[in-house]
Amino acid sequence: MRASDLIRFKQTGQPITMLTAWDAISASLVEDAGADVVLVGDSLAMVSLGHSTTLPVTLEQMVLHTQAVCRGLSKPLAEQPLVITDLPFLSYQCGLDRAVAAAGTLLKQTDAAGVKLEGAEPEVLAVIERLVRTGIPVMGHLGLLPQAVHSLGYRRQARDPRSQERLLMQAVELESAGCFAMVLEHVPAELAGQVRRHVTIPVIGIGAGDNCDGQVSVTADLLGLTHSQPPFSRARMDGRSLAIKALRSWLDDQRQPSPPPTTPPAPPEPHC
Ligand code: KIV
Repeated sequence: MRASDLIRFKQTGQPITMLTAWDAISASLVEDAGADVVLVGDSLAMVSLGHSTTLPVTLEQMVLHTQAVCRGLSKPLAEQPLVITDLPFLSYQCGLDRAVAAAGTLLKQTDAAGVKLEGAEPEVLAVIERLVRTGIPVMGHLGLLPQAVHSLGYRRQARDPRSQERLLMQAVELESAGCFAMVLEHVPAELAGQVRRHVTIPVIGIGAGDNCDGQVSVTADLLGLTHSQPPFSRARMDGRSLAIKALRSWLDDQRQPSPPPTTPPAPPEPHC
């Protein structure tokens, strides 16, 4: 799977599926389940590293986790899902050269085929243009921006006509800057439909209704492994309870009283 294949999916109306992974095991589950794209999202800061936001994860940690995800994929290369990895907070906001170096590090040291970054401010658009000119495929991300949680919060975005207009414009700007696809998170469904019609690149929604070119979900939320879930993400199984039940049953087995060890027979007396 290549980044350019996703545009063909949109053109032919084939829905795009994307799931997150953070290590080799989660990657192999997502691959075997048949996702088109594996996103090594910076949500791994919360899911895997125990942080309360995505902000603390470092570039080095994203490299490490992306390497593990790539090692977890076992199908022949042509059948593997496309791996996209997140540029972490402050790895692309401190100058064009540093952004290219960060994205380049992720692509040189892992088998990821592209990066995702958040927002569409003029500085971010300049970064996207530069990355694309350098040969690095870029996925955009609009709507709820977890890296901007301290200014935007986790609430639904673009609720009034003015901010909806702005988001539509930003989506067009992401496409013009060269993004091959974009994530649209936690915005009204009608707006997502409008964005989808406005741009030729795929719009992959999360909490943005059904009228998108594809959907993305955080795998740990889907499996019911996380303590709390965003309002738009429904677990498909109670993974925590199932896992705890299996672990308890093993622990209980180990705690069954076993017969006391028998004392070995005394060695025979030596003959003189
Ligand atoms: O980091 C992540 O998991 C993401 C998804 C929510 C799209 O960006």
